Amino acid sequence: MRKKIIAGNWKMYKTAPEALELVAALKKEIGGVTAVDVVVCPPFVHLGAVVDNCRASSIAVGAQNIYWEDAGAFTGEVSGPMLASVGVKYVIIGHSERRQFFGETNETVNKRTRAALKNGLKPIVCVGENLAERESGRTFDVIRDHVTGSLAGLTKEDMLRIVLAYEPVWAIGTGKTASAAQAQEVHKFIREILLKMFDKATADATRIQYGGSVKPENIAELVAQPDIDGALVGGASLKADSFAALVRNSMN
Ligand code: PGA
Repeated sequence: MRKKIIAGNWKMYKTAPEALELVAALKKEIGGVTAVDVVVCPPFVHLGAVVDNCRASSIAVGAQNIYWEDAGAFTGEVSGPMLASVGVKYVIIGHSERRQFFGETNETVNKRTRAALKNGLKPIVCVGENLAERESGRTFDVIRDHVTGSLAGLTKEDMLRIVLAYEPVWAIGTGKTASAAQAQEVHKFIREILLKMFDKATADATRIQYGGSVKPENIAELVAQPDIDGALVGGASLKADSFAALVRNSMN
């Protein structure tokens, strides 16, 4: 039985006071939830403060990126030991916005994933096709490429600590959710790839989140699908009431 995991990706939103306000409200509303794993992923500058403010709650904190070297002359980057040292537990890797705007490739996703694992962090590895790829019938090829490339050379033990997120790019921030059936089809396909790359136990144990316009209104139908184990949430994670409602609705 896979425990569901709901993660809020705050992207590049929230000043310091806004971040603390959101976290205080979330703590009040869902700070005691243990039936699903709840994670918030603020921008780097707020990580320490958000970790401190989540301490007496079940909410875990994740970063939105990680560099693959532990230290060095890499201006502007943030490393695994730094994230671990402030109490971060998860890290989103290979989000489509990183792939689209910052030159992220399967190869760099793989390097970042290894760095996260090495530093005791749990990677949330994102995969997903864009609109042109879906419309030209290449969805499954792209997903296969993202999954095999991003997870290349990892072991079964590594996989036990990795969460995958399927995020069709055309559904991110657009209000166009993939239908539950469309998402389930790809999630099932991802699990089949994991079976081929690793084994059945690993494929069955890996949590695969869906992401792309997830809201309190559609989360229940999504997580009712056999291969959808939670959600990576952007817009609806920026307000305490919608994120709390979404978390609650994922438990029904
Ligand atoms: P959205 O973003 O929920 O705003 O569509 C999801 C994501 O990019 O992770």
